[in-house]
Amino acid sequence: MQKEQLEILLKDMSLREKIGQLVQIPGFMIGSGSVITGPALEMGFSEEDFYNAGATLSVFDFDQIKEIQDKFMEHQPHHIPLLFMGDIINGYRSVFPIPLAQGCSFDPELSGRLAAMSAKESAAAGLHVTFSPMVDVVRDARWGRVMESTGEDTYLNECFAKETVKGYQGSNLADAGSVAACVKHYAAYGAPEGGRDYNVVELSDRTLTDDYLPPYQAAVDAGVEMVMTSFNTLNRLPATGSKWLMRDLLRDTWGFSGMLISDWGAINELELHGVTKDGAESAYLAMKAGVDMDMCTPVYALNLQKLVEEGKIAEELIDEACMRVLTLKNKLGLFEDPYHHADQVKAEDVILSREHRELCLEAAEESCVLLKNKRDILPLAKEGLKIAFIGPYTEAHRLYGVWSMLGREEDTVSVKEGVEAIAQNNECTFSKGCRMLDPKYPLYEFHGRVEEEETDDEELLLDAMTKAKRADVCVMLLGEHPAHSGEGGSRGDIRIPKPQRKLLKEIAKVNPNIVTVLFHGRPLDIRGVDRRSKAVLAAWFPGIEGGNAVARLLFGESAPSGKLAMSFPYNVAQVPVHYDHFTTARAFNGDITNRFQSRYLDIPNDPLYPFGHGLTYTTFDYMSIEQSGDVVTCDSPVTVSVRIKNIGNRAGTEVVQLYIRDLKGSVVRPVKKLKGFERVTLEAGEEKTVTFTIDHEMLKFTTADMRFEAEPGEFYAYAGGSSRTERHVTFTFAG
Ligand code: GLC
Repeated sequence: MQKEQLEILLKDMSLREKIGQLVQIPGFMIGSGSVITGPALEMGFSEEDFYNAGATLSVFDFDQIKEIQDKFMEHQPHHIPLLFMGDIINGYRSVFPIPLAQGCSFDPELSGRLAAMSAKESAAAGLHVTFSPMVDVVRDARWGRVMESTGEDTYLNECFAKETVKGYQGSNLADAGSVAACVKHYAAYGAPEGGRDYNVVELSDRTLTDDYLPPYQAAVDAGVEMVMTSFNTLNRLPATGSKWLMRDLLRDTWGFSGMLISDWGAINELELHGVTKDGAESAYLAMKAGVDMDMCTPVYALNLQKLVEEGKIAEELIDEACMRVLTLKNKLGLFEDPYHHADQVKAEDVILSREHRELCLEAAEESCVLLKNKRDILPLAKEGLKIAFIGPYTEAHRLYGVWSMLGREEDTVSVKEGVEAIAQNNECTFSKGCRMLDPKYPLYEFHGRVEEEETDDEELLLDAMTKAKRADVCVMLLGEHPAHSGEGGSRGDIRIPKPQRKLLKEIAKVNPNIVTVLFHGRPLDIRGVDRRSKAVLAAWFPGIEGGNAVARLLFGESAPSGKLAMSFPYNVAQVPVHYDHFTTARAFNGDITNRFQSRYLDIPNDPLYPFGHGLTYTTFDYMSIEQSGDVVTCDSPVTVSVRIKNIGNRAGTEVVQLYIRDLKGSVVRPVKKLKGFERVTLEAGEEKTVTFTIDHEMLKFTTADMRFEAEPGEFYAYAGGSSRTERHVTFTFAG
C-alpha cells in the first residue's frame, strides 16, 4: 500500500479503532474458533477491543494463525490484518546455541546467518515479528537472562546486534523469509541490582551512555523495525514511562522511526512501581513517553479514548502511534498478503532441513569454549580408549535454552548419540551417575514444575563408579537445567547442582583423568569442577546439534575456537565482574601484607576465567606487534599489526582481539576496552599478519563535562588472544 493510502486509511478509522491497533492480546487468550476467552474478559478486554487488536503473540500453529487472521480481519472495521509476534531468540525448530554462547564465537556474521535461518523457518510458519535480538550488556552471572545476551562487552554486543537485525529482516520485509526484528530490553535491563530479575537499575549517566546504550543504538542504525521497553526502573524512573529514553533519545537523537512496544504488562506495572495511581495515569504516562503498543494488557484499550476525549492526550499522539503500527504491517506486505507468504508445505521444506542442521552444528562448535586442557588430554584418541561418559547430560536431549519455544527433544542429538556416531573404535560406556537437580530446591519453568524421573541415587552412583574405575578417561557431562536461567532465573549460588558436585567428587576419587563438559546458561562458579578436571569445555546450551558438536570437539573432528563473551567469576561473591573495570587508586599489587589496597581478604580480584579467554588444540605464537605511526589525529588513524603463527601440529582458529587503554582522562578510564577482533584460521606452521585500524572515533567517551569526545593523550593498544594480554604498543591522540 502507498503511504498516501495509509494516511487515507488512518483518517477513516475511528478513535476506538486506532487505539485498537495499539493493543496486543496474548495468544493464549484467543480460544479455538478465534473466540474471546474468559481470561481475556476477566482481564478487561471487551469483545470490540479484542477484535480491534493490532497484534497477538506466541501463536505458532500455522492453521491457528490463519484462522485467527481470517476471523479478526473479518471483524475489524477496515479488515486490518494482525501482527503475529513471538520469542524466537535462538532458532525456530532448528534451534541453535543461546545468544551468550553465540557471543563466545566472536562471529557476528555467523549469528547473522543464524538469524536469517530462523526468520526463514518462522516466516514460513506464519510469524511476522521476533522479539530478538536482546542486546543488554550483562556483567552479573546471578541474573538468569545473561543467557539471552551476547555478553559483557559493549562493542561485541553492538557487532552482534547489527548482524542479527540484518539477518532477521533481510533486504525487504515484504519478502518471504523475512521477519521484523525487535531489539530489547530498552534500556539497561541487564544491570539489575543484586542480579535479581526485574530489580532496579541504578547507573551513572556515563556508564549508561558509554557501556549500556550503544548496542541498542547499533540495532537502530542497522534498521531494526521495533524496540521493546524494559521492565526495570532506570535511575528511579521506569523505562516504560521514560520520555527521555524514548522520545528524546531513541526517536529524536537516534532517529528511530519504527514501533515501540512495551514488555509484557510493563505499562500496567507503572502503577506497581508506584509512579502512577491507576490505569488511566499509566496509559497517560506511557503514551506521553512514546510507547506505541501495550503488550498483553488492556491499559491502553480501557483508558486512551477517555484521555483523548478529556483533552489530556492529543489525538495526534494516537495517530502517530497507529501510523507506526500500520507502517510496519505495510512494510511486511500484510495488506496485500495477510499471511506474509506463509505456507505449510514450504514450512515443512525449510524447517529442520539438512542445511539448517549443518548451520546449527557449525554454530554449536564455534560457541563452545575450551577453558582448560592440562597435558592436552583433549582431543581424545578415536581408538583404543576406554571412556566412561558420566552425568545427567550424557543422554539428555534437552540441550537448548529455556527460551527455545519450539525446541523439541526428538529433534536433538544427545552427547551419547554424537559419540556413538564417531567413536566406534573406542570402548565407551554411558551412565547418568546422579539426578540433575537438587530436590531441596524445586525448580519451576514457564509451564510448571520441572519433574525428574524417580532415580535410585545409590544405584546410579555405583554404576558410574564401576565404569569410571575401568576407564582410561572419564568424560563428565554436567550442568544447570535450562530452567536455571532465562527470565525469572536468577541464582544466588551459581554452581552446578549439589548431586552433580557430589558425583564429580566421588568419580575423582577413583579416576584422575577427568574431562568435564558443562551445559549452562550463565558463567558458573566452577572452582570444584576446575580443580577435579584436567580439561573443561563450556558448551552452554548448544541447541539441537549439541551432541554432535560436543562429540566432534572431544574427539578432535573439529577444534574449539570460542572465547568467553562473559567472565567466569572465581565465585559468586565477585559478581558483577568484568574485564573493562577501572583501576581504583589502590589497585592490588599482589602484596597481601599491605592491607590498604582494593582486594578481598579471602578471594582473588580476578575471575577464574576472563573475558576473551579460550583454548584450542594448537598454539599460536604472537611473533610481533607493530604500528604504522605513533600519533592518531582526527584525520589520520594508526594501524596496529600483529604477526601470529600456528606453532602446533594441527590447524586452528584464533580470535585475535584488539583492546585500547586510555592512560589518562578527565574521568577515570577502564583498564581495557575491546575495539576490534578477527577470527583467524591457520594451518600448522602457517603465519599471518592481522591488522587493526585505530581512529579517533574509537577513543571517544563521556568526558567530565558530559561531552562525548576523544581527549588528547597517551594510549596503549593491546593485541592478543584474551583480555589478559599485556602485549601492546603506545600511541598518542593529538586531538
Ligand atoms: C517477556 C520478556 C520479553 C519477551 C516478552 C514476550 O516477559 O521480558 O523478553 O519478549 O515477554 O514474551
